Parts: sequence; C-alpha cells; structure tokens
Amino acid sequence: MRGLFITFEGPEGAGKTTVIQQLAKELKDEGIDFVLTREPGGIQIAEQIRSVILDCNNTMMDARTEALLYAAARRQHLVERVIPALESGSIVLCDRFIDSSLAYQGYARQIGVEEILSINEFATEKRMPDLTVYFDIAPEEGLKRITANNKREINRLDQEAIDFHHRVREGYLKVFDRFQDRFVKVNAERELKVVYNDVKQQVLSFIETNVSNSETMK
Ligand code: TMP
Repeated sequence: MRGLFITFEGPEGAGKTTVIQQLAKELKDEGIDFVLTREPGGIQIAEQIRSVILDCNNTMMDARTEALLYAAARRQHLVERVIPALESGSIVLCDRFIDSSLAYQGYARQIGVEEILSINEFATEKRMPDLTVYFDIAPEEGLKRITANNKREINRLDQEAIDFHHRVREGYLKVFDRFQDRFVKVNAERELKVVYNDVKQQVLSFIETNVSNSETMK
C-alpha cells in the first residue's frame, strides 16, 4: 500500500500556503484521506530547527550551516511524518521540500546545486515527490504581497536583498527544467482565486489518475 507525495514550491509571497489550506479543506469535504504538513517543520524536532534557521537574530549563520539544518529538519520530518503516512496509503501535501533547498541554498546562496542535491540525497535516501506544484511569480510582486499581508511574520530569508530573490526564481526555473517529469508550473501572478482553481484542478486530476488504492478515495 502506498500513498502519494505531493509538494508545493515557490518564492515568498506566491500565495502557496493560502492555496494549500483551501485545497486541504476541499479534499476533506470530498472525503479524501490526506496529511497536510510543511518544511522546515511539521513535527517538534523540525519546528525547533526551523526557529533556529529563521531567527532574524541569527545573522552570523553560515550558508552551509543553513543548508545542513534544512537537510536535518527534512530528514526528521520525512521519517517521522511523511513516510509513515505514505506507507499507510495517505496523500501527503507538503508545503516545501527538497526543491526549496536546491533553489535557495543551491542557486540563491550559490553553494552549488550538485552539492545541495548530494546532502539532500543523503538526508532523504533519494525519496522524491510524486508531484511538485511550482508557484511562479516575479520576486518584486511576491515581496509586495508579503508587505501588504501584515499578518505574515517576516523571517531571516525574507530580509535578503532583491538579487537573492531573483536568484531563487532563476533557481526554481532551472530545477523545474531538470525535474520536468514531476513538476507542474502555475502562474501565481494571477488573482488568488484563479491560481487556486488551477492548482486544485492539477492536484485532483493527478490524484484521480494515480490513486492505486481504492481505500484512499472514500
Ligand atoms: P516558509 O516561509 O514557506 O515557511 O519557508 C521558510 C523559509 O525557508 C522560506 O524563506 C524558504 C526557506 N527555505 C529554504 O531556504 N530552504 C529549504 O530547504 C526550505 C524548506 C525553506
């Protein structure tokens, strides 16, 4: 018995988290069995690592320390939350996974994508998502939305210069080209409702065509 591992990726302010929450509500109404989680975090140890990584006071953090902390949080979250859920046949919806590290640490921090892929393959034992929905948005637009949304906390990475955010987007586009077989790209510059309908349609049709276990769809 095996579930489906669906991840959501994109730069800051793309509307990703809001869309995932709406999608979760829709899946619940349809009676579909799923687990909603996020990275870095989702479980206690990884949430503790998250607060170290994103603490705005940690300005001394070295880029490789940051990359290793993300990979450590990923490992713990994968073994404690994601794999057990997949093994019980659930659909796992995860807000960020390995592609965030490839785009942010590999490209934007300029550590190198092969090095980041290699530490992450160690962390995940090469477990990859079945589907990745990528929210594409220009960094200026995304950052404008974060500033307008005063409920959202500003973290250490949000405070990077605009060049960093441009490299994040370029990084994602390169990652998208490399892993085209599991990626779908969504234009996140449109109205949130339109983005939501697009994502919902992509995810539901993926679930319908890939659910092998009739128990998963009630
Ligand atoms: P969030 O705001 O989407 O919860 O993500 C937290 C921040 O961490 C966001 O700026 C993206 C960043 N991040 C990385 O740089 N590398 C990673 O591997 C992950 C999962 C997140």
